[in-house]
Amino acid sequence: MTDILEVREISKDENNVLANMVGMDHEQVLFCQDRATGLKAIIAVHNTVLGPALGGTRMWNYANEEDAITDVLRLSRGMTYKNSISGLNLGGGKAVIIGDSYTQKNEALFRRFGKFVESLSGKYITAEDVGISPQDMVWVNKETNHVAGLPGKSGDPSPVTAYGVYVGMKACAKAQYGTDSLNGIKVAVQGAGHVGQYLIKHLTDEGAKVFVTDIHEPSLKDVSEKYGSTIVGLDEIYDLDVDVYAPCALGATVNDATLERLKCSIIAGAANNQLEQEIIHGKAVMDRGIIYAPDFMLNAGGVINCFAEVDGKSAEWAMEKAAQIYDTTTEIINGSKANNIPTYAIANKMAEDRIKGAL
Ligand SMILES: NC(=O)c1ccc[n+]([C@@H]2O[C@H](COP(=O)([O-])OP(=O)(O)OC[C@H]3O[C@@H](n4cnc5c(N)ncnc54)[C@H](O)[C@@H]3O)[C@@H](O)[C@H]2O)c1
Repeated sequence: MTDILEVREISKDENNVLANMVGMDHEQVLFCQDRATGLKAIIAVHNTVLGPALGGTRMWNYANEEDAITDVLRLSRGMTYKNSISGLNLGGGKAVIIGDSYTQKNEALFRRFGKFVESLSGKYITAEDVGISPQDMVWVNKETNHVAGLPGKSGDPSPVTAYGVYVGMKACAKAQYGTDSLNGIKVAVQGAGHVGQYLIKHLTDEGAKVFVTDIHEPSLKDVSEKYGSTIVGLDEIYDLDVDVYAPCALGATVNDATLERLKCSIIAGAANNQLEQEIIHGKAVMDRGIIYAPDFMLNAGGVINCFAEVDGKSAEWAMEKAAQIYDTTTEIINGSKANNIPTYAIANKMAEDRIKGAL
């Protein structure tokens, strides 16, 4: 294995799949098509040093094939880091199905996809991601047992994800304010979806003052009625005088424009890929004295929940494992301070070191 720390950006020549596999150090990419069902899918196995590659399947109407390839290569590599830093015996993988998740879903398509997953003999374990429901996984499961996230099993991962974000946020508070109590702390939550709502409950229970925004009015009404959260505008969220900014909706919201406006001293949320440009904005955040909890580490509760399902572990085990995100966050912050290196870089190195140590 080459040093994956050194090679993290996709090549400009995105058509060159093998060159990108070399650059990002992917083990295997499987292109799948079936005329009868119209299935077009790509399964990317990034790294299986720590165990089988686990990562969800995304169904998305990509503008072109290159976008689908780029997405699956990046997402599968991200799963390697997430699974590694979470101490799970899992590698990283991901699948994409090219198509409209509202109009093109049917049993035959997902069963055909399941056969392709089965053809990898357990090297890749799939689960839900964007555009995929537990019912779709039931169809996949008719052809392969290498599936997590089935109904009646580990269930909705969001409570575990939210709990991990909550404990990680407390670890950030301890490092920034000397106490991990969130009582009286002002938190801006962007996105009151599955994870956001559970997170807001934890925060409110502990006495934090929550400000929330969402594009979906009913979700906002719900959290304001249940938890007394203050509703703010979609753009206003970046200007609030708060202690913590918790992105729980979109990626890339920490960027040149928002960094000029953010007044928080902690960024800790569930969204993936929060830093628009990891190297530039990871450093910019540190230079402003903001503690950034690396997203792939902080939001690992969901994959911890999946692992519990495939490894026959209990829901209690998953919550205990998610609780360890507190210690991991502390270790990352300490490493960042001691070496004057951004937190994302410390987290990446920790994930890579565990893989190298297992070789
Ligand atoms: N669900 C999990 O267990 C899990 C695990 C790891 C990472 N994540 C990530 O965490 C984030 C939240 O996941 P989720 O399961 O709660 O998703 P979700 O779709 O249930 O919630 C996202 C919420 O964000 C809102 N939203 C969308 N665009 C917005 C905008 N511009 N401004 C404000 N709000 C906006 C949506 O209306 C929705 O309510 C996602 O980025 C997801 O990839 C989730």
